[in-house]
Amino acid sequence: MTDRDRPSPGRPDEPLPRAAEAPFEPTVLAWRPLHEWGDVQGQVIRSDARVAELLLGLVRETAAARTDEAHLLEIVADYSFRAFPNASHHLLLARTEEGGDLRTLNAQARDGADPRAVGISHTIVERVMQDGCALLYASDRGAIDATKSILLSRLETAICAPLMDSRQPFGVIQMDIRRPARGRFSREDVDLLSVFASQVGLSLENLRLHQQQRRAFESTINALVHSLTLKDPEAAAHSERVQSVAIELGRRLGLDAQDLEVLRVAALLHDLGKQGVRDEVLFKPERLTDAERDEMAQHAAHTQNILDKIVYPEALQDVPRVASYHHEKLDGTGPFGVLGDDIPLTSRILSVADVLDALLSPRVYKEPLPPAQVLEILDRGKDADWDPRVVDAARASLDGLLANVYARPAGDGGENLSEAA
Ligand SMILES: [Fe+2]
Repeated sequence: MTDRDRPSPGRPDEPLPRAAEAPFEPTVLAWRPLHEWGDVQGQVIRSDARVAELLLGLVRETAAARTDEAHLLEIVADYSFRAFPNASHHLLLARTEEGGDLRTLNAQARDGADPRAVGISHTIVERVMQDGCALLYASDRGAIDATKSILLSRLETAICAPLMDSRQPFGVIQMDIRRPARGRFSREDVDLLSVFASQVGLSLENLRLHQQQRRAFESTINALVHSLTLKDPEAAAHSERVQSVAIELGRRLGLDAQDLEVLRVAALLHDLGKQGVRDEVLFKPERLTDAERDEMAQHAAHTQNILDKIVYPEALQDVPRVASYHHEKLDGTGPFGVLGDDIPLTSRILSVADVLDALLSPRVYKEPLPPAQVLEILDRGKDADWDPRVVDAARASLDGLLANVYARPAGDGGENLSEAA
């Protein structure tokens, strides 16, 4: 592409539109206003197959990593260094909430040097965000007041562009060159960075929306757990311990990250339905009658009814089923009558974690059982009640769980647990 094909980029002798009041003036060499970015994008992509391929890769990989902040930032840095082979440093600043301060999302040196040394001019950031333009600038050592922007004095040349959400700038991306011997940025680099900034801004906005949804979901979960804590503090404490135990068993059984997350949430919420059980049954210190036991068994269905009313992130859609099946038995005699492998593995893990905690913990009507006796009970229930693999995982994990979750010494009760049958 020739210069004639492009919208005319800004030149150093033209005034920047609405330039911000600056405490000092780094030398701005070229810029591209926001309203020209759309035209520039097509031209940049059509003009250079390598750039088009890089951008396609950036779009594809940032889409795949859209909910994973660390991975997303790594991809952006990687593609930025590939797109700007002269650049020695990459910097990404953004507001995490509207009206909030800018914070550094990522600062990387190509050679792996200390990323804290990556510099930014506050003057330039303000100008880029207020004027909404991508620009190329050079440090003007003579004009710099070190007290205003100490880090800039390390900078040689840099290109900087705003990150836009659907309404306004919320951050900047900057690439800089500290060793002029490696080359300089060109006006074409300003255009390429504006195209990069469009995609990076979109990815970060999507990430931010996902994180907001996630926080809203977490707050719903916390409110539900709080309601259980008010009604039955012991049930809430039990749920937290069951969560720790279930995650340990899930890890040992090789669950992937998504299943572990489902298990984490389901474990915390599995007994919410106890709020639907009458107090005289829920808190009865004596043994329950058959009718009362039937009423208590209804809590799994109450849990499902409550959890079905929540809107879940896509990855957590299975939480109501996993949580409400925590009393299902392999032989199909549980509250929902689900059989064998039709019970999700996560529910089978939750079931063992639930019983393990109930047996190891004191209740008003019983003392905690010695660990060896707990293992005996679990062993007797293999196949009919509990998945043998999960019971074996519980046996293998028990010493660690006693120490970490129950603050009891491994082998508590005088037995060598690894020997106990
Ligand atoms: Fe339960």
